[in-house]
Amino acid sequence: MNTVGGYFRGFMTPLKNDRFLRALLREPVDVTPVWMMRQAGRYLPEYRETRARAGDFMALCQNAELACEVTLQPLERFPLDAAILFSDILTIPDAMGLGLYFEAGEGPKFKKPVRTAADVEALTVPDPEKDLGYVMDAVRTICRELNGRVPLIGFSGSPWTLATYMIEGGSSKDFRRIKAMMFDQPELLKHVLSVLADSVTSYLNAQIEAGAQAVQIFDTWGGVLSPENYRDFSLHYMDRIVKGLKRENEGRKVPVILFTKNGGQWLESMADTGADALGLDWTTDISEARQRVGNRVALQGNMDPSTLYASPERIRQEVATILEKFGTGNGHVFNLGHGIHQFVEPEKAGAFVNAVHELSASYHASV
Ligand code: CP3
Repeated sequence: MNTVGGYFRGFMTPLKNDRFLRALLREPVDVTPVWMMRQAGRYLPEYRETRARAGDFMALCQNAELACEVTLQPLERFPLDAAILFSDILTIPDAMGLGLYFEAGEGPKFKKPVRTAADVEALTVPDPEKDLGYVMDAVRTICRELNGRVPLIGFSGSPWTLATYMIEGGSSKDFRRIKAMMFDQPELLKHVLSVLADSVTSYLNAQIEAGAQAVQIFDTWGGVLSPENYRDFSLHYMDRIVKGLKRENEGRKVPVILFTKNGGQWLESMADTGADALGLDWTTDISEARQRVGNRVALQGNMDPSTLYASPERIRQEVATILEKFGTGNGHVFNLGHGIHQFVEPEKAGAFVNAVHELSASYHASV
C-alpha cells in the first residue's frame, strides 16, 4: 500500500517527491533531500524583478499570486526537495498593530515598538484567517500551483525571536532593551512571550490547515541567551507551541522542525519538546549531533552558507564532508546552516543542490 509515516495516502494530494517528509520522519529515502533557507530571495535576478513589480517587500508578501511566483522561482532553477512559503516572520507583530516597515539598508523596523507595561497589556493574539489572511491565501495558492510536486514548508519565528524585534523596534546587535526587561521585569516579558506562543500556535495551525505539509520555527536569536535564560525565555515557549500544533493533516503526519541558531549546545533539551527535527547551524559538528540526539530526531543542515562563495569543486567537497560526517542511515535533510546570502551566484546554489543528490545516493540503500 502507498503509505507515508504509516498512513494511508488515498485522500490527500499525492506527493510526487516526498523524500523531504520521509527524512524528517527518519524513514528511508533514495537520496538525501535538500532545500536552502531563504531559497527565494535577492540572490535570484528573477526575484528582484518580481519584487520591483510588487513595489516593495511587504507588498510582495501580501499578494498571493506574486508570493507564489517567488516561492516557485528557486524550484524552476534547482531540483529542490521542498518549497518554503514566501513570507516573513514579522507578519505576526505587524498583525498585532506594531506597524512593520522596511528602511532601505537598515532591515525591518516597527513604528510602535513594545516598551511599557501598557504596550504589553495591549497585545492580543491575531486571528490567522482574518488578520493574516494574506498568508493563508499564499499557502493555498502555492499548494495549488505545486500540485504535489514537492511539500510546502510553513514557518514562523519563535516567541523570543519575534519579541527581540518587537521590543528593540527592529534588528539589534546587543538586545539591550529586551535583556533589560528580561532581568528587571521577567514577568512582563513572559506575558509578551506567552501571547506570542499562542499567536504562533494558531498561525502555524492555520498554515497547516491551508496546506503546509511541514513547519519550521526560526529561533534566530535564541543563541544570544545563557543556558538558563534560553530554557526559560525561548525553549519553554517553543515547547508550548510544539505541543499545541496539529501534527497530522489529511491523513499525513506534519513534521515540526526547530531551529535555534547557535543552539548546538542545547540539542538534547530541544529534542525533549517532541519536535521531529532540529536545524543545525555550521558551528555544530553533525556527527556529534547525531550521536547525541540522532535516535530521537532528524537533523537538518548544516553547511556554512559562505561556502557558496567558493568554487563548485570546493562546494562539492564540503557537501561530501558533511554527508560523510552524518554517515549512513535515515534522518538527514541537507541544508545550509543559515539563509543563503544575497551576493551568492545562483549557479553556486545549483552546484550545491546537485552535489547533495549525486554524492548522497551511496549513503542510502537503493529502494
Ligand atoms: O526561506 C525562504 O525563502 C522564505 C522566506 C523568508 C524570508 N524571511 C523572506 C525575506 C523567511 C523564512 C524569512 C524569515 C526571517 N525574517 C527571519 C528568520 C531567518 C533566519 O534565517 O533565521 C528573520 C530574522 C526575518 C526578519 C527579516 N526580514 C530580516 C532581518 C530581513 C532582511 C532585511 C534586509 O534588508 O536585509 C527581512 C526581509 C526579507 N525576508 C527578505 C526576504 C527575501 C529580503 C527582502 C528584500 O529586500 O527583498
